[in-house]
Amino acid sequence: MSTKLQGIILAAGKSTRFNANKTKLAERICGQKMILYSTKLLEELNIPTTVVVGYQKNQIKKIITKEHKNRVSFSTQDTQEGTGHALAITKDIWEKEHLLVINGDVPLVTKDIIEQLYNKHKENNAALSFVIAHNPDPSNSSYGRIIKTDDGIKIVESKDFHGDTHEHCCVNAGIYIITKKFLTQHIQSLENKNANKEFYITDLVKIASDKGLSVATITAPFDYVRGINTYQELWAAEQVKRSELIKYWMERGVRFSVAQNVHIDLPVSIGSGSYIGCGVHLLGNTTIGKNCKIHEFSSLQNTTLKNDVTIYAHCIIKDAHIETHAQIGPYAHVREETHIGSHTIIGNFVEVKKSTIGDHTKAKHLSYLGDATIGSQVNIGAGTITCNHDGLKKQKTIIEDHAYIGSNNSIVAPVTIHKEAYTGAGSVITKDVPENALAIGRARQINKGGYAKKLRNRKETTDAKKTKPAKKDVEKNDDKFAFLGARVIDQDIKSSEET
Ligand code: UD1
Ligand code: CA
Repeated sequence: MSTKLQGIILAAGKSTRFNANKTKLAERICGQKMILYSTKLLEELNIPTTVVVGYQKNQIKKIITKEHKNRVSFSTQDTQEGTGHALAITKDIWEKEHLLVINGDVPLVTKDIIEQLYNKHKENNAALSFVIAHNPDPSNSSYGRIIKTDDGIKIVESKDFHGDTHEHCCVNAGIYIITKKFLTQHIQSLENKNANKEFYITDLVKIASDKGLSVATITAPFDYVRGINTYQELWAAEQVKRSELIKYWMERGVRFSVAQNVHIDLPVSIGSGSYIGCGVHLLGNTTIGKNCKIHEFSSLQNTTLKNDVTIYAHCIIKDAHIETHAQIGPYAHVREETHIGSHTIIGNFVEVKKSTIGDHTKAKHLSYLGDATIGSQVNIGAGTITCNHDGLKKQKTIIEDHAYIGSNNSIVAPVTIHKEAYTGAGSVITKDVPENALAIGRARQINKGGYAKKLRNRKETTDAKKTKPAKKDVEKNDDKFAFLGARVIDQDIKSSEET
């Protein structure tokens, strides 16, 4: 945009109406912190920007600097004396011919609106131009009202407004272009004459109008200029943004089963032919390939799915990379630094962490696979656990191609199960298993002929002897019988082993 513009974003306010003792500007809308909406917009428009910070300034500076490095500068407003005061303290850095001033809590404003405002400002040779909108809920509004009379135009703040709310449903959006010349001459005329002892930037409109200077306005759709003062308004703005994102992906061939309850962040991308179920969360830098299916209530964060992946219901997946045709869940937990190969199946109640799993491998039920490198066409039996922590630190498990791990194995790392090896069900694997070997690591079974019958007979005799105990004996008797079964078994096994 024009090199005659410089940007000032007002972000020092106390967020009092949030009632949360924290700055609203750090709240996220579709995954992006509120303040970054306006800083990124101005960067996109190539407008050099200063942000006025005050309340929780270090936090806001950190958020902005992380995103923009040193391309955004800061002014500090030590005491929050209103929007007029916030602008006044930037006086020393006014350089360009026009200043674009934006409230930091108006995140959904578009490039188009700023360009239109600047064009109107130039056309009208205005001292001050600003954006207005028709508020669809005028009776419930904290916005400044636009009052146009034969005498000119002014903004009356909602606290000071006593007229007909429906008649004056046009509101101030909090986006202004003001010429440096006008501002330098009149900024000191702002007075903190109101009950809140605040200086209102909006009083500049009346000052310009009273002086007979040109004041221009453009009208923008209310949804794009919603200001956020409360959690309810934050929710409403996020609804708008989310609807916009969902519409965008629908137009690109994505089917949402219940679009109104999907959460989707700004950087997410989704391939055509994909299906997004009810209650799905797509967060952060998540990329979904073509023809993927994500079933109800699954959450994906910073995750890449290649084409044709199916995520069944109720999965939690974070920082993972999943290759084509893989199937995950239901109820799987796939965690950081995990790579899952093509056609691989990770089934219900399987947790995978910091692991690489090859192609066509199956871990279909109830497993923990952590710090493991697992090859292709491996079968992981139900209930298999990689025991990755040796009491001091994490250790690695390697399971090579075509290995077959029986059910309920505990694989004690560090250990390698070589190619095409088998392990028996219930094994505790503590040593490497050579290629093609079968490892069995479990207690040998003993069958005691007729023992069950003997035990039942004993129970019947005991039950018969049992008389209703007196109240005071209950505790004693309970103790006597509680572990009877266990004691008998121990004794009998010992005696039968001796014979
Ligand atoms: C302001 C406007 C109102 C407009 C509305 C649009 C004024 C007096 N009123 O009201 O006409 O309809 O925005 O959303 O401007 N801030 C500071 N320093 C301060 C006070 C505020 O930097 O001392 C910042 C806040 O962090 C916020 C922005 O200025 O980002 C707007 O302040 P806020 O208190 O939210 O103004 P509103 O009451 O919404
Ligand atoms: Ca506001």
